[in-house]
Amino acid sequence: MKLLVTAGPTREHLDPVRFLSNRSTGKMGFAVAQAAAERGHAVTLVAGPVSLPTPAGVARIDVVSALDMLAAVEECLPGHDALVMSAAVADWRPKRASATKLKKSGMHPVLELEPNPDILQTLLPIKGQRLFVGFAAETGVPLAEARRKLEAKGLDLIVANDVTLPDAGFAVDTNRVTLVSASGTPEALPLMSKLAAGREIVRWLERHACP
Ligand code: PMT
Repeated sequence: MKLLVTAGPTREHLDPVRFLSNRSTGKMGFAVAQAAAERGHAVTLVAGPVSLPTPAGVARIDVVSALDMLAAVEECLPGHDALVMSAAVADWRPKRASATKLKKSGMHPVLELEPNPDILQTLLPIKGQRLFVGFAAETGVPLAEARRKLEAKGLDLIVANDVTLPDAGFAVDTNRVTLVSASGTPEALPLMSKLAAGREIVRWLERHACP
């Protein structure tokens, strides 16, 4: 299989030194990429700004913003059999970004934002036979919201994680995920390393890929 994986946060710059972002470290996405490469799959990893080494055998493309990530994923998708979106893509970006550092005196106290495109939904029309896997980072009832996202984004699988738990979600080496597929019953996996969770996701892809 040829797998396209995204990881990490995106940064939405206001000026060269200030940006909006989130707590993603890239650990989950890098673990999926490593697990897939270990199984002999060809992996392209589109990474937001993170400080992690590239897993062995993985081709990496570094991006900064959600628009950069969309452009990279869109360009790469045709050569791949599956897309795994582990990245925490910023939903909003500043309406205006300055090419030079904004002076405190010249800054407006209210920040105007505009929505970023949803990468999965944008690429849905060219999905074809490919498998699309999303993640759902939830702070409430994870399953109901994960199912809603699965349907809204036309996914084959969504990996739900409750990011309020201390040993799951952002910036830790472990995760508690539930695999929610379009066809089957949700599979709640116990606490495990992100690499082990990555291996479970890769196994799911191997079982569901077109021969
Ligand atoms: O990087 P770590 O520190 O290891 O943390 C891992 C993680 C918590 C970031 C990861 O496990 C995770 O949950 N990633 C998805 C985070 C997220 O953005 O979830 P969401 O529920 O907001 O989005 C749902 C899906 O749509 C995701 O697959 C996301 O990549 C995708 N999306 C979101 C916004 C957008 N503009 N375009 C998208 O394609």
